[in-house]
Amino acid sequence: MPLLIPRRRFLAGLAATGLAARWPHALAGRDEAAITRAIPSTGEALPVIGMGTWRTFNVGTDPELLDQREQVLELFFQRGGRVVDASPMYGSAEKVVGELIKRLGHREALFAATKVWTRDESDTREAVARSEALWGVARFDLMQIHNLLGWEGHLETLKEMKSEGQLRYIGVTTSHGRRHDELEQIMTREPLDFVQLTYNIADREAEKRLLPLARERGIAVIANRPFQGGQLFDRVGSQPLPAWAGEVGIDSWAGFFLKFIVSHPAMTCAIPATTQVAHLRENMGALYGRLPDEAQRRRMIDIITGG
Ligand SMILES: NC(=O)c1ccc[n+]([C@@H]2O[C@H](COP(=O)([O-])OP(=O)(O)OC[C@H]3O[C@@H](n4cnc5c(N)ncnc54)[C@H](OP(=O)(O)O)[C@@H]3O)[C@@H](O)[C@H]2O)c1
Repeated sequence: MPLLIPRRRFLAGLAATGLAARWPHALAGRDEAAITRAIPSTGEALPVIGMGTWRTFNVGTDPELLDQREQVLELFFQRGGRVVDASPMYGSAEKVVGELIKRLGHREALFAATKVWTRDESDTREAVARSEALWGVARFDLMQIHNLLGWEGHLETLKEMKSEGQLRYIGVTTSHGRRHDELEQIMTREPLDFVQLTYNIADREAEKRLLPLARERGIAVIANRPFQGGQLFDRVGSQPLPAWAGEVGIDSWAGFFLKFIVSHPAMTCAIPATTQVAHLRENMGALYGRLPDEAQRRRMIDIITGG
């Protein structure tokens, strides 16, 4: 179940870690608890809404686009976000995130998650070092093997690096429902902290085996493609939200889609990607208020898929 941290205790916790001073805007003007979930392998709490960077942060050195992404990232932290997910596969995204984190100075709040993406299974340590340099971090919170590429060799090295204290958490990713059988075997056999996979209201394949297995094995789950790459917005068009959505603090379709995901009991975090401050604001709305219960989740599925 999600952990709801009362605002006062949340503030006290931040003060104890020194985060409150560096993270003041996260708390300004809101008298609500951010919804968090515990990472099963340690109990560390994470806000259930993070941020993806595929395409959206691949903006190179264009000053105007960098400024726009800076505003997105700034609001993300102000609204209590922590998990930022990237990959060497995402063009300049890692470099851009590193540059903007340096400008914004939110290193303490950041839960830095990236990936190893190389066929060369002897290149793991160098790949991690390259990403550290781009992000400007001394150690990643989470290092994932992108799309299971070369996973056997990389995972052995990532396990060593974690035991040496060079990484905090390790995991593997897939998306679009690919290679679920293989992922299931890895989750069964290997000591993973995290898996990342596609889960959203229109793609619920992971509910069958992978999400129950993650709960059984104590593996945190990150949902990628929470808006099915944006297609979910086309499905609902200008349709109004159901009247009862307000009861669970949903005031946008983005909130509807995200709260559906993070109300699944196996889910740790969803990572929507956006280029727009207004969209980021909507997405971070899902970090607050109540979550739908099982009956409401069924009604949500009916609305989107017709049952
Ligand atoms: N194999 C893997 O490891 C893997 C695979 C896929 C994705 N991922 C990760 O998951 C992240 C998310 O997936 P994704 O980027 O594919 O897709 P997504 O987050 O499902 O959708 C992104 C699209 O939704 C739009 N959007 C975002 N917020 C919106 C809002 N409030 N209202 C209307 N439109 C909105 C964005 O456009 P705007 O810019 O206009 O807001 C963008 O076109 C990626 O960025 C990446 O970090 C990992």
